[in-house]
Amino acid sequence: MEWLNLDDSVNALSLLGLVAIVVLTVAIVGKYIKQIKDEKAEGELAGYDWDGIDEFKNDLPVGWAAMYTILIVWGLWYWFVGYPLNAYSQIGEWNEEVKEYQAKYESKWANADKQTLIDMGQSIFLVQCAPCHGETAEGMGGKAANLITWGKEDHIEKVVAQGAQGMGFMSPMPPMMTDSDGAKKAAAYIMANFSPRGETKYPNLVSEGKAVYENVCAACHGIDGNGVEMVGPSLVDLTGEVLKYGKKDSIGYMPPFKDRFTDVQEKALGEYIYSLR
Ligand code: HEC
Ligand code: HEC
Repeated sequence: MEWLNLDDSVNALSLLGLVAIVVLTVAIVGKYIKQIKDEKAEGELAGYDWDGIDEFKNDLPVGWAAMYTILIVWGLWYWFVGYPLNAYSQIGEWNEEVKEYQAKYESKWANADKQTLIDMGQSIFLVQCAPCHGETAEGMGGKAANLITWGKEDHIEKVVAQGAQGMGFMSPMPPMMTDSDGAKKAAAYIMANFSPRGETKYPNLVSEGKAVYENVCAACHGIDGNGVEMVGPSLVDLTGEVLKYGKKDSIGYMPPFKDRFTDVQEKALGEYIYSLR
């Protein structure tokens, strides 16, 4: 009999256990059946009479009362000191470990050079953003924003002419009265000084652009380009703002990516997007 291989100690022990359980069951059941047949119950009756059936008065069994009390105490301990509200959980441990690794990651890459950040940004982009924006970031024929042009000179000029909305600031950015030259100058200044690109197609317009920016844009975007709470987004970290708030506009809805990325990862995404040509 191949299935009954008693050389295997687990099989042998299981079989021994099985025999023990059968013997004990038969013995105990037999004892109680005999007791039911032979013994006459005695004691004080409670005096109820339901169709001829009455009930003995019995004290609460001590063991039962003890178990009951212990369970209540243990239940309170379990909720307030043990697992659910306080101590160890696997999810908690996982969260702690993720936090620890992210801190390590942040310090390891805190001073990464531009090219490293761009490469890092591209790999994050291909996983998290490409499903909507396309592998080449061109927006898959209008399904999402074209990020090759987004954020750069032409886009900024268009934003000034048309206004912008959808990130949920106190009020949308209205179209500005600045003539197209003014917009071009402001864009040059923003590209050279605030954006991760750090350079502009029109370097000769930067100094005039500073004046336009400070007169027209700084009230909402901050003199240093870092944005004004509730009023206007940071232009230094515009990708970070889009990730934080999401954006809902005529072509569709981009959900916010709250807390999905570390600061370095966000910076890397920005560097990657602004490096696209
Ligand atoms: C679910 C689809 C979807 C995903 C995923 C997605 N986006 Fe978007 N994104 C959009 C859409 C749609 C828009 C255009 C919104 C609009 O009409 O301005 C957009 C717009 C943008 C803009 C431009 C916003 C503006 O001011 O016009 C940026 C920058 C951007 N996305 C970056 C990212 C990055 C980085 C990721 C990955 C972390 C990402 N997106 C993932 C759908 C998506
Ligand atoms: C009245 C306040 C205000 C002023 C003035 C203002 N902006 Fe904005 N700007 C905003 C707000 C609010 C947004 C965010 C819009 C949104 O919800 O997407 C924004 C967004 C932008 C964006 C990003 C748009 C996008 O699609 O991602 C750019 C670029 C920008 N502003 C450039 C400028 C420039 C350049 C000037 C000056 C010529 C300027 N802004 C003046 C309030 C302002």
